[in-house]
Amino acid sequence: MDPKQLAAEKAVTFLDNGMTIGLGTGSTAYWAIEKIGEKVNKEGWKVKAIATSIRSEEQARGLGIPIVDFSSVQLIDVTIDGADEVDAQLQLIKGGGGALLREKIVATNSKQMIVVADESKWVPSLGSYPLPVEVIHFGWQRTFEKLELLGCKAERRMNGAGPYLTDNGNYIIDCAFGEIQDAPSLHESVNTITGVVDNGLFIRIATKLVLGFKNGETRIISR
Ligand code: 5RP
Repeated sequence: MDPKQLAAEKAVTFLDNGMTIGLGTGSTAYWAIEKIGEKVNKEGWKVKAIATSIRSEEQARGLGIPIVDFSSVQLIDVTIDGADEVDAQLQLIKGGGGALLREKIVATNSKQMIVVADESKWVPSLGSYPLPVEVIHFGWQRTFEKLELLGCKAERRMNGAGPYLTDNGNYIIDCAFGEIQDAPSLHESVNTITGVVDNGLFIRIATKLVLGFKNGETRIISR
């Protein structure tokens, strides 16, 4: 089995009938949503879900998973989401799929965030993957320059000939910092730039990691 699917399906074993679930975004979270759909359709699970992207919401609706309005939910029980990189402290880089802002809002309003990933995402230190930063259009070139002053090579994400737009209508600037020594302080520095909405560093948010391996094994690391 695909290690992404393996990790995602293992993570679903931590869910229960009756829960309010946060649905992540990306090719790994996809498999978790499929499995939750199976629980709803074959085992009669009654769950409520909040999705982190339009794409995941459409997938969930297609499977008959009830999507509820965020305003009606005080606290999500468990969110399952992927990551672009994860280290031993369960610090993450997210946003490769462009959904980092909604992903962070959903994860920080959840009792638990389970990260699902194949072994390639497990890294000794974060930073090989460029850090996605969501910025507003107005004055984005100035925001871009300020990000580069923090020591990265920045690039505005494109979608064909035009700029990539997030579900919130913002731009993404991908910032290649190289090895990140102090993720909490970089998170702070990036987010204090006016024009930045949020960045893809998730610090002290993930509570569990399920890694899937090519040999069919899974490994679980909890914080
Ligand atoms: C989307 C994300 C994804 O979780 C991340 O990009 C991992 O994606 P995949 O599971 O497809 O490798 O952060 O914004």
